[in-house]
Amino acid sequence: MYIAMNRFKVLKGSETDFENIWKNRESTLHEMKGFRTFHLLRGPVNEAENYTLYASHTVWESEDDFLAWTKSQNFRDSHRNAGTGKATTVGHPQFEGFSAIEGA
Ligand code: HEM
Repeated sequence: MYIAMNRFKVLKGSETDFENIWKNRESTLHEMKGFRTFHLLRGPVNEAENYTLYASHTVWESEDDFLAWTKSQNFRDSHRNAGTGKATTVGHPQFEGFSAIEGA
């Protein structure tokens, strides 16, 4: 099992706009080989730095399946509008990938 996460720092006050981008997207992730689950996660608020932490979280059968998605037309299509429109985040997302050592 492989977990791919992207952390987003979302500007305080832009949380609803950010969530709506995700809720309204058309996803075809489920068509990809090895794809298991997707979650958009809301984390803690950082008052000092004025953002709310979010993570997009995907679970895959293997890292190879995830990497294949990142090189696919499916990935390009899902990011066609990413980063356009009104800015809701502070900077670019931060990627973290994890290979499962225990558990499948
Ligand atoms: C390693 C790189 C990245 C990974 C693994 C990743 C992961 C994902 C996943 C799993 C989705 C949902 C796709 C779907 O359901 O079809 C998504 C969509 C999205 N990603 Fe990424 N992403 C990456 C790079 C980026 C970057 C650099 C940005 C920002 C500039 C970004 C912003 C977004 C946004 C805003 C969406 C919602 C799609 C929409 O606008 O309709 N992602 N990403």
